[in-house]
Amino acid sequence: MSAFIVLGAQWGDEGKGKMTDYLAEKADVVVRFQGGNNAGHTVEVEDKQYKLRLIPSGVLYDDKINVIGNGVVVDPKALFEEMDYLEGVGVKVTPEKLLISDRAQLIMPYHKILDGLKERARGKNDIGTTGRGIGPCYTDKAERSGIRVCDLMHREVFEEKLKQNIEDKNAIISLYGGETLDFETVYNEYIGYAERIKPYVDDISVRIYDEIKNNKNVLFEGAQGFLLDIDYGTYPYVTSSNTIAGGVCTGAGVGPTVITGAVGIAKAYTTRVGKGPFPTELVDEMGDLLREKGHEYGVNTGRARRCGWLDLVILKSAARVSGLTSFVVTKIDTLAGIDKIKVCTGYKFEGKVIDYFPACLEDLAKCEPIYEEFEGWDESIADARSYEEFPENAKKYLKRIEEFTGTKISIVSVGPKRNQTIEIGEI
Ligand code: GDP
Ligand code: IMO
Ligand code: MG
Repeated sequence: MSAFIVLGAQWGDEGKGKMTDYLAEKADVVVRFQGGNNAGHTVEVEDKQYKLRLIPSGVLYDDKINVIGNGVVVDPKALFEEMDYLEGVGVKVTPEKLLISDRAQLIMPYHKILDGLKERARGKNDIGTTGRGIGPCYTDKAERSGIRVCDLMHREVFEEKLKQNIEDKNAIISLYGGETLDFETVYNEYIGYAERIKPYVDDISVRIYDEIKNNKNVLFEGAQGFLLDIDYGTYPYVTSSNTIAGGVCTGAGVGPTVITGAVGIAKAYTTRVGKGPFPTELVDEMGDLLREKGHEYGVNTGRARRCGWLDLVILKSAARVSGLTSFVVTKIDTLAGIDKIKVCTGYKFEGKVIDYFPACLEDLAKCEPIYEEFEGWDESIADARSYEEFPENAKKYLKRIEEFTGTKISIVSVGPKRNQTIEIGEI
């Protein structure tokens, strides 16, 4: 049995989708435990590219169970669009293959409206959210006014909760100068979803527990990344869920003692979408070069990703907070052809050198990255199929990551496809 976690170790888009699909070959169950359709996970198999948002990246296999956990916020409209998209490209999504937690919170139309209105009201202090209603939905969950998937299964309960919410939210929407919602329209739309979602709904904690007891392998697929975590990220420039390993227990109803390992997916450089601090950001030609070479444009919103050097302070902190058992380094192929590559190994802060992320953004703004410089390599790594084929300078780069973080690298990814994956150590 194994219950293994895949997490983003930076600010998202590290290649979690690709690696979950790769690792899922040996898994029986793949579980999303937080986030929602703010995620954009790309999986490439042979000449086909798949873009997943809400449905776990094990869905391309016919014999895996995919689970949307209670910690996920589910937009039924987006869910069915994704299911239709998958059906359209020949991927079956049946109730045998997909389970949705009865405890998961529903993203409602007013969450999406409020996401937009609140961002607008923040003005220059906007977070740069994906606009999918994620924050407002988690707000309702914490405030205890959220509507859950199980409520949709009981018309009267749903009707009552929706009535109350529409009344409350319309008042707030009006306050922000937005267009209010009509109860009947939303009610009818969601009652339509209720029928379609019903066969997929289950108590997923019970199902996952049974699978683990039966010696099956369970993979937990994180969305977003370490520094977008609501507690340990660059608050308030974060998402609204726990993206760290702890999120698995609360978001999928499993105890910490069953978890057998956690792998952190780390891009060989750093990217970030949306606003917020980014100490190693390159707002120059090198940043543009990384963006073009790495095709750094968001899967979900198409936004250009901000690019910068690898920050080992982030990886070391991610390893600590999530108890990472190894790293997977992705996109090392993108660095080929860059003469000198820099890596951040600490920050100068108030006359001291620190190797952790300060909580306060005001303190973080004072942090000056300390860099080590590495000689680059010209040879393309994309076709390498073993570690031995790597240029010496690439090996030195990878060794430094292990040394600084005190965490082994188990896999190196040299391209977006399944077969561009090289196992170099125990996972
Ligand atoms: P996720 O959100 O963590 O799943 O990552 P995204 O899918 O948003 O972004 C990662 C992008 O890099 C996708 O376009 C992947 O196909 C691609 N990718 C993943 N691993 C590699 C790699 O090792 N090399 C290259 N060149 N691309 C990769
Ligand atoms: P994957 O799973 C990168 C960012 C948004 C914004 C902040 C808050 O593909 O790695 P939200 O809509 O969640 O309230 O936005 O979080 N963000 C992501 N950045 N990858 C993601 O997901 C992200 N999901 C949210 O850009 O800065
Ligand atoms: Mg992504």
